[in-house]
Amino acid sequence: MKNKIIITKDYKEMSEVVTKLFIKQLLEKPSTVWGLATGSTPVGLYERLGKRKDLDFSKSKSFNLDEYESLKPDDPQSYYYFMQEELFSKINISESNYFLPNGAAEDLVSECKNYDFLIKSNGGIDLQLLGIGTNGHVGFNEPSNKFSDGTHLVDLTDQTIKDNADKYFEGNTNLVPKRALSMGTMQIVKAKKIIILASGKNKAWAVSESIEGTVTPKVPASILQKHDDVTWIIDKAAASKLKNRNKLELTTKVL
Ligand code: PGA
Repeated sequence: MKNKIIITKDYKEMSEVVTKLFIKQLLEKPSTVWGLATGSTPVGLYERLGKRKDLDFSKSKSFNLDEYESLKPDDPQSYYYFMQEELFSKINISESNYFLPNGAAEDLVSECKNYDFLIKSNGGIDLQLLGIGTNGHVGFNEPSNKFSDGTHLVDLTDQTIKDNADKYFEGNTNLVPKRALSMGTMQIVKAKKIIILASGKNKAWAVSESIEGTVTPKVPASILQKHDDVTWIIDKAAASKLKNRNKLELTTKVL
């Protein structure tokens, strides 16, 4: 097991730990190329970064994992809008330095290819932040028979549509777009470092399968077992199904 695992008391402590690791990365490499994620899990991190007016993101670039099909950047349900609201409007990163796949592009195949090219031509991702779905997905890479490769168009599973409807679409699954553009799993693991967050009991199955189960595209996050520099930051509830939990340190003192 090469992955480092930090178990925190709760969501707040998880957010504090990841914020410290982000700041450390930024200070060590102001020109960091970040891989960022949407969803409820990283909100505590973004909130904390947004308040730190001493941090300089002007040399950083960032690429997000995914975007819903057909939503324009100014649509309040789009991930572009989410990132603006939660983070980009609060830090000094210039608009020309952050990127999300454009789900409203006319030619989605070219959009995916261009996105991968842009990541590569910027030197690849230094630090990729991930959340995890209740079914073990990362980005919008849903359980399947094969790990996906580059950025591509995905059909969302009923489970993901339901999870997202409950969180962002007032429980109405009809309002959730059924497809999205997502960086592929193999593209994600090209990042030099990866930090993956999980909070809450509903993530416990996905966390234990990804960390202690077989590496399989049926649990996309299990691919992280093959990466050399992965840190899981998970709260106690998300860690509750880990079989070897007692052997893992309950600590935030790694910093
Ligand atoms: P969440 O989503 O952070 O809103 O739980 C994570 C994910 O689905 O990848």
